[in-house]
Amino acid sequence: MLEVRNVNLYLKNAGEELHVLRNVSFALQPGEVVSVVGPSGSGKSSLLMVLAGLEKATSGSILIDGTDIVGLDEDRLAVFRRDNFGILFQNFHLIPSMTALENVAFTLEIADPSRPYGSIRQAAQDALVAVGLGDRAKHLPSALSGGEQQRVGLARAIVGEPRILLADEPTGNLDQTTGGGVIERMFALARVEGTAILLITHDLQLAARADRTLSMNQGSLHETPPAIQGVTV
Ligand SMILES: Nc1ncnc2c1ncn2[C@@H]1O[C@H](COP(=O)(O)OP(=O)(O)O)[C@@H](O)[C@H]1O
Ligand SMILES: [Mg+2]
Repeated sequence: MLEVRNVNLYLKNAGEELHVLRNVSFALQPGEVVSVVGPSGSGKSSLLMVLAGLEKATSGSILIDGTDIVGLDEDRLAVFRRDNFGILFQNFHLIPSMTALENVAFTLEIADPSRPYGSIRQAAQDALVAVGLGDRAKHLPSALSGGEQQRVGLARAIVGEPRILLADEPTGNLDQTTGGGVIERMFALARVEGTAILLITHDLQLAARADRTLSMNQGSLHETPPAIQGVTV
């Protein structure tokens, strides 16, 4: 479903060229949960941005059902992103002037402007209930805790029933109980809906629950042998 081949990403930083992703290759199948671990600054968030087409790979290919998104123009890329990806960003990216419900609903409005708002509102409310925020629908992001904002981010990522969910540190701001709920919800998506999930996390226990774990180190991504899972990073 998703196949990444020899992806390189160079970024300019203060005049210096930085080799952020080095020959990254891996595949993701429907219903599969793959975790990505690795030190801060190793390129995990950059990988997510490249996969979602929000950052253009310098070379290599990212195939979704055979179409290479690296070569697509912005318009076609936007359609591909909308039809395939749900993205939970490391720092949420909620729109400050919109309520929790509006933030979630907005994704669906863009995806299908002809869909009646009542049905959009219901789907957004259901997604908020699913992440335990049914009673926070009318709150602005500024009136929500970090963990609650993260859950709004998750509701927004899953409301469109994406085929591929990209999640960057989804439990980073959550206490264990809340984080556990969010994670159960994500794993259920993979099992029940066949959503493919790429899960970036610092939590090695959580990483080990995935079907496979990949380790990012200085821009290189490697399969982690099960025997040493838990001692890398
Ligand atoms: N927009 C950017 N411009 C230049 N360098 C960047 C940019 N974003 C990230 N980097 C650099 O790329 C490297 C990888 O960062 P990142 O992908 O955020 O790592 P991680 O998510 O694993 O902590 C870091 O050295 C970081 O400083
Ligand atoms: Mg990061």
